[in-house]
This record gives sequence, structure tokens and C-alpha cells, in this order.
Amino acid sequence: MSAALRQRHTELAALLRAHDHAYYVLAQPSISDQEYDRLYHELLDLEQAHPDWVTPDSPSQRVGGAPLSEFPSVRHAVPMMSLDNTYSPEEVREFVGRVQKLLPGEALEWVVEPKVDGLAVNLRYERGVLVLGATRGDGTQGDDITANLKTIRSLPLQLQAPPPAAAPVELDLFAPSPVGLPAVVEVRGEVYMTSPGFKKLNQDRESAGEDKFINPRNAAAGSLKQLDPRIVATRPLEMVLYGLGKVEGCRPPASQVEMLAWLKALGFKTPERTWVCRSVEELMAAIAELDGRRKSFGYETDGAVIKLNSFAGRERCGSTSKAPRWAMAYKYAAEQAETALISITIQVGRTGALTPVAELEPVFVAGSTVSRATLHNEEELRRKDIRLGDRVIIEKAGEVIPAVVRVVMEKRTGAEKVFEFPRACPECGSVATRDSATGEGTVVWRCPNTDCPARIRGRLEHWCSRGAMDIEGGGEVLMEQLVKAGLVREVDDLYRVSVGEVAALERMGEKSAANFMAGVEASKSRDLWRLIFGLGILHVGAGGAKALGKTFATLDDLLHASPAQLQEIGDIGEVVAASLHAWFSDPINRALINRLRAAGLNFRSALHNPEARLGPLAGRTFVLTGTLPNLTREAAAARIEALGGRVSGSVSKKTDYVVAGAEAGSKLDKAEKLGVKIIDEAGLLALCGGVQAQ
Ligand code: IVH
Repeated sequence: MSAALRQRHTELAALLRAHDHAYYVLAQPSISDQEYDRLYHELLDLEQAHPDWVTPDSPSQRVGGAPLSEFPSVRHAVPMMSLDNTYSPEEVREFVGRVQKLLPGEALEWVVEPKVDGLAVNLRYERGVLVLGATRGDGTQGDDITANLKTIRSLPLQLQAPPPAAAPVELDLFAPSPVGLPAVVEVRGEVYMTSPGFKKLNQDRESAGEDKFINPRNAAAGSLKQLDPRIVATRPLEMVLYGLGKVEGCRPPASQVEMLAWLKALGFKTPERTWVCRSVEELMAAIAELDGRRKSFGYETDGAVIKLNSFAGRERCGSTSKAPRWAMAYKYAAEQAETALISITIQVGRTGALTPVAELEPVFVAGSTVSRATLHNEEELRRKDIRLGDRVIIEKAGEVIPAVVRVVMEKRTGAEKVFEFPRACPECGSVATRDSATGEGTVVWRCPNTDCPARIRGRLEHWCSRGAMDIEGGGEVLMEQLVKAGLVREVDDLYRVSVGEVAALERMGEKSAANFMAGVEASKSRDLWRLIFGLGILHVGAGGAKALGKTFATLDDLLHASPAQLQEIGDIGEVVAASLHAWFSDPINRALINRLRAAGLNFRSALHNPEARLGPLAGRTFVLTGTLPNLTREAAAARIEALGGRVSGSVSKKTDYVVAGAEAGSKLDKAEKLGVKIIDEAGLLALCGGVQAQ
């Protein structure tokens, strides 16, 4: 029995690995999500019953382990080098000439690959199993970020043994190690964030009142720096492999082309497109072709990497202390333009964040006219030494909002003025504060005054926005007028203004006033998650609000939830749970909730459907019997239900688990007879994700 189950476990792990590879590496899903979940749960159940079967490369181990306090430092077995850069075809010619001199008389072959804009990491596999993943660091020593890298679904935790028949001819070169995989192989590549993923992440962060990332590279770097792998798992990271470190126990490939084929056969994602070139002309043609194609890749690339194909040739070229002599990065000029920085204004957001904005002399770049660009925060301003009156280079790249890249220092006249970043809110005059409210970085100054007109306007706009209460006409202009006229201050005031008051505002006709009021009225019956999201609670985005709506039937249930209960909900982490709890504990917010109730807003959740919830116990039925050592029956039931499970009073064939305590009676007998799985309190807690009873 156990042998058969063990066999099934191995089979499930292999199946899930193959489906992951098809989905994440080949982008060709091989089964439905539902079927995948079924297999995954079957694997989890087996591992639950046999914890000793869990190996570090099990598909269940992508997100595991507790948050770290810091990353251990690791020394690279083979140093991770950098690349020399160039922007000009002339320098490419010189580079080729230099290599030719080092390899006289040889016909040189080059490989051109996209230069992906992310972070280099080294992955070590021993006997095919991922044992270590590290950042480049200073090239000699990096951080051990294994747990974070494991969350990247396109990255195999276990290598595929390349099937001999399907393997490319070059694979014959590899004398197989005893298990058909090299004893040790270190592979290198780039971790990056996709452009759509970046865009969505920033939208979510903005709507949750969190600081936005400057660009996809920054977002990838910030994600990998997280000490809690559960946060990393939510970030849209990918990895592409393009190099090797240490290899033991098999004959290493002889060229870049062979190596890429090998990496692919082992299950890795390799560069989107590569070119083999034999002359400078071919190189420049490949670089130009890549430039034309890279915009459709769905991730940021900032150049082409030219590499000598032959590894033997590389050996003879050698390296300088910093970079190999056999490779070069050709960087594409970004879509940039020069213009004048006229002034800097400060925008105050809903959360009080003070964002400096460059007011520019309008300039045409990458298809449109730009007259404003973000300066991100005070630290960025200082770092780039941006002054009023400067000539600046602005850039528009991919999904990123226009930004000021640098000052044209040669054009400084001396008349430029250092911008004093305000220490007070330009809207209400409150003294600005700087704390790590959002966990990621402490560089943002904030207006702490919740009554600041800019923050009031921002809150109202957010409430009316399409993603929240979806009130037509509730845009920036109308909100500003309503606030100025003293008609509205908090969101519940919207439900008290009269059509006459709105119609009397400047540039507001009867008709648009009536439309707006109809929108306000309709918003009273919006689903609960929209209301929760609309409240603008720090860290609570639309996704989090939906997760709450699925878990709680009414706002009152949510109001009474403890941070521990909140954390048991998938999608709600420690930070979000604490923020929710703090918000709902504040008497001012409680009063607002009561006024919204009085105004007739819907507090019920249509998403709440215990059986269809998405928690890890979704679809599972439990029966509780006997006395559990720590949990009361109610507490045990609450835990099961909070994770999507169902608690039933009687045992049947459909029961998934019977949780048995002391003096369990007939239900236990029946479970035994029907072959239903029987677990104790510890088993239940383990199923609930190892959360301890309190
Ligand atoms: S090869 C010794 N190939 O660019 C050669 N690097 O500017 C090491 N990068 O640190 C790198 N795409 O983070 C190589 N196809 C590619 C690359 C690539 C992006 C990054 C990598 C490296 C940096 C050097």
C-alpha cells in the first residue's frame, strides 16, 4: 500500500513538474487549472500523511519556510563577471579586431543575445536538484536567496534528464553522470519582471496606497530583497538562462549554442531569440534586428550581448579583472530627449505621499509630447543633482512613465537653483514625516494630516473610481469643487448632498448633476469588496478586498476578525492584516462605517460562498468529533472555514477528513469503516499551514 502511494507521489511530482514546464517555460499549458489543482492537492495530501516524502524539490516546496532575518552570504565557486559596454558600431569593430588578434587566423563565430534588464543570479543544482540560488553581489560573494528564487515558477526545482532520442545531437558530447544528470551544474541568468506584470503590480500598489516601483528592474530587485518568500511569490518574476558556472560530472558544452540547447533540454527558459554571426556586418544586422523585435518581448531589454561562441576560444582570450575579453554589451540608446526643467511641483496623494514632478518645456519623444515627468522622490532628486533651470534628458521607456534621467551638466550656466524639498505639505502646511509606512523603502515624505484637502480629494476620487464604487462623474474636478464648496469631506457625505447642491456648482448642469447623483445612489448596492477597497486602507488593494469579501459574509464579520484570523486568509499577509486591524480599531473609522451603514450602503458580500472559496482547504469537508486538546470545536471550525473548508455534522463517503479528539465516538467508527482519513488536532493545524493554536 505504502509503496504504491510512494510511487504515486513520485508520479504526481513528475507530472506537476512537466505541467509547470509546459505552462511557465514553453507557454503551452498542457492541462486545465482545475485538473492541475486536483493533482496538486493529491500531492499535498500524500505529503501531509507522509511528511518524510517531502523533498526540497517537491512542487509543494516553491513557497516554504519562515521569513529570514537576513540573507546568508555565499562565495561563488566561479566568479560572476560583468560586461564591457558600448553604444557604437565602431567600438564593435574594434572589439572584434581585439579578439581576432588574440585568436590569430581563426574564423570567429559570435552569438548575439538580448540583454535582459534584470539581475544576474547563479543557481546551483546538485544531482539535478536546486540547492542554492545566489545574487551576483560583488561578483565574488553574493546573497543566498534560494527560497526567493524557488518561487519563480519557470525555474525548475529539479532538472529534466534530457531524453536521449529527442535530445539535440550535441548532447552526445555529454558523458552522462550516474543519474543521467551532472553531479554539479551551476547555471546563470537574469531574473526580471515582465512589463505587464510590472504595470499591474504598480497599479495594485498605487491602489493599496503603497509606493510605486520606478521601473521593472527596480521592482525585480526589490522583490528579490524581500526576506519573506511569500511576498516574492506574489511578484511576477521570470528568469532566463544564458551562462554556466561550475560544472562537474559531465563533459561541459563546447560552445554557447550547444550550451543554450543543453540548458533548454534541462528545462530552463533560454533567450527568446539568438543570432550566430561571422562578421561585424552580420553582428550589426543582428543587433538592428533585435532592436526591432525587442519591443514585442513583453519585458525590458536594454541592449544586445555579443559573445564568442567557442568556449575554447574564450579560454584563450581570458578576462580582465572585471569582464571577459570575449564578450561585449551593445546598449541601445533609450528614447530620450533634451529639454528645460522649468519648475518642480509637489503632488500630494491620497496616502499623503509627496511626489516631486518636473514641469518641462514640452518636448516630443517616442511618439508623444511630454511636459511633465516624475522625479520619484527627494533622494532621486539629490542623487541626480537636479536643479531648477537645468537642461535635462528625459526618457520614455516601455511601460514606464516619463522620467528625468540626468542633467546635461555641460549646459549649466550657474543660474540654476537647488530645489529645496518642502518639509511641509504644500496643500495644508502640516509638517511632513518620513517613515517606512509601506515597508519598502523610507524615502517618501508624507503629509500626516488626514484632513489635508489633497488627501480628502484623493480619498473621494478613489472611492468613486471605476475599480472601487464606480460612481460615474466622480472625477478630480467635481471632487475638488465639492470639497471647496464645503459640501463633502468624507465619503459618506456624498450620500447626503442634494442634486440641487451639485447642480449649483460651477460648470455643472442639471443633467450631469442628476447623472452623478444616480451613480451615487447606485453605489449603495455595490458588492462589499468594492466598499472595502474604496475605503483606501493602506496595503489593501482590490485583490485583498476580494479575498476579504470571499471570506466574510458581512462587513461586521470582518470588523470583528482578529489579525490572526485575517492572516489565515490566502492573499492576506502579516502587514495587510495588521493594517486592516489598525484601521478598523480606530474610532474615527468605526464612526465612518456607522455613518455609511446609516446612509444605506450594502455591507453584504456576494462573493462569500463558503464552498467556492479559494483557500487551501477549498472543497474539503471536515467532521469534528471528540474533544481536541487546545481548540474548542468552534475555533477549529472557524479555522477550517477561514481557509475555505466546510464543516459537516455527519460522516459520509464525501467526508475528506475526520478530526478526532479524546473520547471520539460513533463518528470515528464510521470514518474507519468508510476509510475516511482521520487526523488529530496537530494534523489539522498542519493542514491549516502550520499555524499554532493560541
Ligand atoms: S553574460 C561574463 N548575457 O548584463 C558574462 N549577461 O552588463 C556575464 N545580462 O551582469 C554576463 N542579459 O546581469 C550576459 N544575455 C546576457 C545578458 C546578460 C543581461 C546582464 C547580466 C550582467 C550584465 C552585464
